[in-house]
Amino acid sequence: MKIISVVGARPNFIKISPFIKSINKYNSNNTIKVEHLLVHTGQHYDDRMSKSFFESLNIPYADINLGIGSGSHAEQVGRTMIAFEKVLLVEKPDWVVVVGDVNATLACSVTAKKLHIKVCHIEAGLRSQDNLMPEEINRLVTDRLSDLLLVPDELSVQNLLKEGVEKNKIKFVGNIMIDTLLENKKTSLNLNFNEIISKNSISTNNENIKKNNFILTTLHRPSNVDSKKNLNSIVDFFLNEISILKDIVWPIHPRTVKQLKLFQLWDALVENPKIHLLHPIGYHELLNLNINSKLVLTDSGGLQEECTVIGTPCITLRSNTERPITLVENGGVSVLVGNDIPKISKEYNKALKITKKPIQPKYWDGKTAERCLKKIINF
Ligand code: UD1
Repeated sequence: MKIISVVGARPNFIKISPFIKSINKYNSNNTIKVEHLLVHTGQHYDDRMSKSFFESLNIPYADINLGIGSGSHAEQVGRTMIAFEKVLLVEKPDWVVVVGDVNATLACSVTAKKLHIKVCHIEAGLRSQDNLMPEEINRLVTDRLSDLLLVPDELSVQNLLKEGVEKNKIKFVGNIMIDTLLENKKTSLNLNFNEIISKNSISTNNENIKKNNFILTTLHRPSNVDSKKNLNSIVDFFLNEISILKDIVWPIHPRTVKQLKLFQLWDALVENPKIHLLHPIGYHELLNLNINSKLVLTDSGGLQEECTVIGTPCITLRSNTERPITLVENGGVSVLVGNDIPKISKEYNKALKITKKPIQPKYWDGKTAERCLKKIINF
């Protein structure tokens, strides 16, 4: 059997790492081997957004890099499809495995299906019900086309059944990102906290950040960072409320840096001694900061899941989520607050009083990648 798996953007690297390891383990125990090629579309290309993840998570360098780079959604998807079609025509795999919900996921699943190649989607069935999110479009199209839908939780199974997906295509395997978290937790904890801050600093005026007493934040969703009004009110909240009493540690996504400079919000952040801006940081570094933080303020879906397993209270700066299993009302740690500052403030002050309590949803147990491979082989 020949599998091509696809990665494009930062969260994909974290999800593919255990899948590749499970193939290697399978091949060392079986005489009939799984042939595997890794294709990187090149959507994320900076060393800090891409190469560092391959190195720290021991992912072999991609066999093929399509070099797609930045661009509008149509440009990224179009360029990926043209380049990936050429790869498929030469390599003729039995399966294309896509993960997550980024542009690479959509582009490569469509291209494969048009060449009658089977598609497996790892992390299928997540729905925010918000078609203004580019990722939701990517999820809908990919799941509609996939032959095998490997889902992280029971709520996602229900989403797919409601959309009319045949039951025998859906397999509940658990959350593959948590395989990576459990495998790398010890390495993360061995890192020196102060070094993480100083090594990655864009601006930090105070190296004396107290463990378990600082706020970790990340932001990159277009709904937050591309709107001047929304980004302005979030920054205002950071400057005028949180930073009065607490330190904020903020590894900044390139998209957000661009927007903060464009809206002239950058200088005030850099000058604030309680706000510590960092370059995008590595996987182990972020995990260390998450474990050591008091609470997380984010619009990242992946961080919502990681907070659930670590137990960090998570204020989610979105009005919906494709990962409802992480919400407090479903037994998780995350609260949706949208862009509404009074609500953010109320939930933030409430969350400061919560003590960390790790949660483990069913099958978020570190064995998801092995289950994924088994489902593909037995298909
Ligand atoms: C993408 C994914 C999103 C994921 C996020 C994680 C889609 C539709 N979105 O969003 O689901 O949560 O990645 O990071 O696929 N840039 C760099 N260096 C890089 C990569 C990007 O400077 O290595 C800049 C580009 O100039 C670009 C901007 O960041 O304009 C945004 O990058 P893009 O890949 O378009 O989307 P993300 O916002 O990263």
